[in-house]
Amino acid sequence: MTIQTVPTTPFAGQRPGTSGLRKKVTEFQQPGYLENFVEAIFQTIKGNMGEGCALVVGGDGRYFNREAIQVILRMAAAHGVPRVLVGRGGILSTPAVSCVIRKHAAFGGIVLSASHNPGGPDGDFGIKYNIDNGGPAPEKVTEAIFASTQALSSYRISDAGPVDLDRIGTTRIEDMVVEVIDPVADYAQLMARLFDFEAIRTLFASGFRMRFDAMHAVSGPYAKAIIEGQLGAPAGTVVNCLPLEDFGGGHPDPNPVNAADLIAHMNGPDAPGFGAASDGDGDRNMIVGRGLAVTPSDSLAIIAANATVAPGYASGITGIARSMPTSQAADRVAESLGISCFETPTGWKYFGNLMDANLATLCGEESYGTGSHHIREKDGLWAVLFWLNMLAARTKTGNASVNEIVREHWARFGRNYYSRHDYEAVDTIAADSLMMALREKLPALAGQTLGSFRVAVADDFAYTDPVDGSLSTRQGIRIAMVDGSRIVFRLSGTGTEGATIRLYLERFEADPARHDIDTQEALSELIAIADQVAELRQRTGRTGPSVIT
Ligand code: G6P
Ligand code: ZN
Repeated sequence: MTIQTVPTTPFAGQRPGTSGLRKKVTEFQQPGYLENFVEAIFQTIKGNMGEGCALVVGGDGRYFNREAIQVILRMAAAHGVPRVLVGRGGILSTPAVSCVIRKHAAFGGIVLSASHNPGGPDGDFGIKYNIDNGGPAPEKVTEAIFASTQALSSYRISDAGPVDLDRIGTTRIEDMVVEVIDPVADYAQLMARLFDFEAIRTLFASGFRMRFDAMHAVSGPYAKAIIEGQLGAPAGTVVNCLPLEDFGGGHPDPNPVNAADLIAHMNGPDAPGFGAASDGDGDRNMIVGRGLAVTPSDSLAIIAANATVAPGYASGITGIARSMPTSQAADRVAESLGISCFETPTGWKYFGNLMDANLATLCGEESYGTGSHHIREKDGLWAVLFWLNMLAARTKTGNASVNEIVREHWARFGRNYYSRHDYEAVDTIAADSLMMALREKLPALAGQTLGSFRVAVADDFAYTDPVDGSLSTRQGIRIAMVDGSRIVFRLSGTGTEGATIRLYLERFEADPARHDIDTQEALSELIAIADQVAELRQRTGRTGPSVIT
């Protein structure tokens, strides 16, 4: 075993985005492409590896995961990393990486995933660095990594043979200790501390049934071990539980459009009381009742309103945080609890400071992300277990249902009808000019009457972080009505083709007699106003959105 120094030249475009470097697998397979990026990570973090301190490595099992891990291990050894913890089979969900970093006081972690993007030889791959609090590296670190990618002339790598990733135990590469760990154990232990497993076991024993669709992604082994193994749900409760390199050809994004099988099952005659799904790397979740997909905004509000049923939150929550386009359902709960509800820009990273400073316990986004201060990533299975805990706390019988919880919540707090309309792969120039024209209209909008609504505030959302004072501007256009309804426009920060315009619509309805309206119908006037104000159809040349969730 020797350490080699291999000459290289920089690749263009290695700037990490919202969630690390995400590219086509074929791009990652170019000789030196992965090595260069990993070299840049190690050069950036070299001051942070204390003696005996570990690096955590794992991914969502997608195509190229195993190859990438072998390269990362050999390069970690060449850079003097003392110890690496790697999930068996190269598997660690994104929340599990965050959990393992925190539990073992690791200096950081490398997550291999492209989240909910399709996988396989023609799909996407991704690599992301997380810091010692278990959360994604802040922008100053990712920018330093990018700067380093642009200045490389060589990378260092050991010529050691591959590590057996399928056997739990310890080996060495050069002076570095490699520990292959059970990917589920630490995470499952944390969940058992947060939730009342005994009550959930009693619920399942009484005949309660659920379906968890792991979408052939990384949550499968976690859900199977916890929900079927520890909580006693019948075998077959977790479906599509084997992580596949191409997710079985599916699009592992838990929303009503991509998790259509689950939705069909929950609409059918054999629907159990609870349906759930999670994404490629296990950080997103969708909660489904019988014939009812719970909006992520409602899920956050409902968890907040019932948080104290879970032992990990029994002493109450300090605050809630939601991204700006997420509905204001959680604000109503915060108000009744007498706690703050923070409104942040889109992106989980904005919650980090609030959680570190103990200002927010629960966080959520409309994009199917929910989580808490137990780790520093959003956490799909955690949200599912929270719902199970709420169901178990209400009743010990098999008849508990998601629908009942949702209806009671609406009756108490009112219903925030909510929907997102996406215009995908729009010409970039058309999308930019649509946003620019909207910005110009903003000053004149306040006070205007649009149909049956009166505009209270029209602005381009800006956020000042209450902890470090940093300012983020141009985070999306808000048109807020006097009655609390809202129309929000923003451009997606994660799309890969052209621009994606997202239109978020929200209307509040206090009257329980009016909680059964079809969502699109309830929002129809706002949809028409949005089209008129932004000239959506005209400027995009589309007759309507490409995806409605
Ligand atoms: C990723 C981030 C989320 C964020 C989402 C927004 O999934 O992890 O925190 O909400 O992207 O995506 P968008 O396409 O709307 O910018
Ligand atoms: Zn994800």
